[in-house]
Amino acid sequence: MKTSALPTGTALITGASSGIGAEFARQLARRGQRLVLVARRAERLEALARELKQVHGVTIECLSADLAETSGQELVAQRLQGTPPVEWLINNAGFGSGGLYHETKAPKQMAMIEVHVKATARLIRAVLPAMVQRRQGVIINVASIAAFAMVPTSAMYSSTKLWMVGFTKALAAELEGTGVHIQALCPGFTHTEFHDTEEYRHFNRQVVPSFCWMTAAEVVRQSLHAVERGSGVFIPGWFNRLMVLGMKMPGVQSLGKWYARRRWHGSPSSP
Ligand SMILES: NC(=O)c1ccc[n+]([C@@H]2O[C@H](COP(=O)([O-])OP(=O)(O)OC[C@H]3O[C@@H](n4cnc5c(N)ncnc54)[C@H](OP(=O)(O)O)[C@@H]3O)[C@@H](O)[C@H]2O)c1
Repeated sequence: MKTSALPTGTALITGASSGIGAEFARQLARRGQRLVLVARRAERLEALARELKQVHGVTIECLSADLAETSGQELVAQRLQGTPPVEWLINNAGFGSGGLYHETKAPKQMAMIEVHVKATARLIRAVLPAMVQRRQGVIINVASIAAFAMVPTSAMYSSTKLWMVGFTKALAAELEGTGVHIQALCPGFTHTEFHDTEEYRHFNRQVVPSFCWMTAAEVVRQSLHAVERGSGVFIPGWFNRLMVLGMKMPGVQSLGKWYARRRWHGSPSSP
């Protein structure tokens, strides 16, 4: 779909309390857009809201919600159907986990389906009818390049992100000509709090060469630029695009599988 001018109204961002979500908030506030910030940590949202109101003078609502819970999903869905109307929905909330599936904690795996899949599907369903009716809107689903690599030790993460990519592609086809843009944003290694959890305690960022990493600011800048050009799957950064190309080559998937298993069993990060 080719670009028309994108709407400049209210943007609702999930996972806005840190990382990529907070950066979407910063860059959209800079454009003067009204924001609805969603995450569990209310104090983080309030602090960001204060900062952005002060710097950009924009109106900001904060909504504390746990998107792993149906009640949290419904709270946000309700706001999406309220006023003022939401013209941008950024489904960014998410988290990773590692380990062989049969050894992982079941509640965390189920929560991942809730946050990555169910919340994304529910929130889009809540907001899309009005976007189609108004003939304008932007939806960005933050997936990952992991969607293109089904490797051991991140089965649920990779496959829920693959769902996000597939769902976005199908909706992009449905929405052609409606004026609604939809993007599956697939970042690679990005400097955020993503790897600061207990499960990644032995993950050493230094092991990954610096050219493989992007800042959240650059990921968001490229995503916003790409969505202006139209809908579809977008991979920020030349290295990430190269990685995804490489993943399709015979032999590379096998190498990835071997490396992931070896890393998990051969390192102190094994659970
Ligand atoms: N960083 C990377 O290397 C990387 C690479 C590829 C894709 N991604 C994707 O980028 C997205 C953003 O992650 P990030 O890198 O910015 O990590 P981050 O700094 O850890 O941010 C994650 C955000 O998701 C929110 N969140 C997590 N679980 C939630 C829940 N149950 N309900 C509501 N909000 C929840 C967190 O807020 P609260 O804790 O306050 O709820 C936080 O705001 C994720 O979808 C991730 O999969 C990241």
